[in-house]
Amino acid sequence: MRTNSPQTITIRAFAKINLDLQILGVRPDGYHELRTTFQSIALSDTLTFTKTRGPFRIECDDPSCPTDQTNLIWKAAGRVLRLARRRDAPSGVTVHVEKNIPMQSGLGGGSSDAAATLRALCVLWRVNASAAELQHAAASLGADVPYFLEGGTALGFHRGDLVYPLDDIAPAWAVVVVPEFGVSTKEAFAWWDEANNRRERRDRQQRREGKRRANDLEAIVAEHHPIVFKLVHTLFRNGAFHASLSGSGSAVFGLFRRRSDAQATARLLAGPRTFVTPTLSRKRCLRLAAT
Ligand code: C5P
Repeated sequence: MRTNSPQTITIRAFAKINLDLQILGVRPDGYHELRTTFQSIALSDTLTFTKTRGPFRIECDDPSCPTDQTNLIWKAAGRVLRLARRRDAPSGVTVHVEKNIPMQSGLGGGSSDAAATLRALCVLWRVNASAAELQHAAASLGADVPYFLEGGTALGFHRGDLVYPLDDIAPAWAVVVVPEFGVSTKEAFAWWDEANNRRERRDRQQRREGKRRANDLEAIVAEHHPIVFKLVHTLFRNGAFHASLSGSGSAVFGLFRRRSDAQATARLLAGPRTFVTPTLSRKRCLRLAAT
């Protein structure tokens, strides 16, 4: 986190991929019990928090990104005030967001921005929160948000919000392909619930394909968007040692040992939203967050 002056803080919010994602069941609250492995990648949004007069404001270079109270950045600002035992609404800060992580892609952009906001505003507003308080505030914002306080390679349990840091994986290059459509997480889990009722059919389909997928949502999302399977197959065919849907999609990634192999595959897949980006260790994630 860079403190340009006491008035401004700039922080990078990194995206994640899910190396795997298992759905263990449906919880009484309607959420899904998960076991997932999160991994940071270098694709990032950049958030600049500046003390200003007047109301809380969010400015974003991407016009499709909401800048009102529905944005998790706004909600995170409210949580920081609660941590300071204040009841007023956020004010006196303008947040500029340089948005590079595509929305509704399963790369966690909104959640990462929210975690970055918790960290930055605790500094800007001099709020002393314990790690446990921050984790709790993060979990109240969304299932993925606690992971982004951690970064690197980590296991997520429960809704994905109970996070256990793991040893970092060996560095790799990710080719991330984001199709032109987005997938709503809520909708993807609802598709999974529906499919649960016709599970036998899906199991037969998986047996036919001869392999279990790393992400339990992949086959369901591919039923609605067949391009997902095609992309995963293409990434494997071109030498990826691992390829999968990320989260609930729509992004698909492949991992490569060598940058040149990743770049060659990305050229082949050429699209406006195809990225070649390294995986990040927890240490690098924290260091680079400070831009
Ligand atoms: O927590 P978050 O707001 O990111 O989740 C979005 C939606 O995804 C939830 O409203 C829920 O429908 C679904 N979800 C789920 N099980 C999870 C995580 C998310 O059903 N473990």
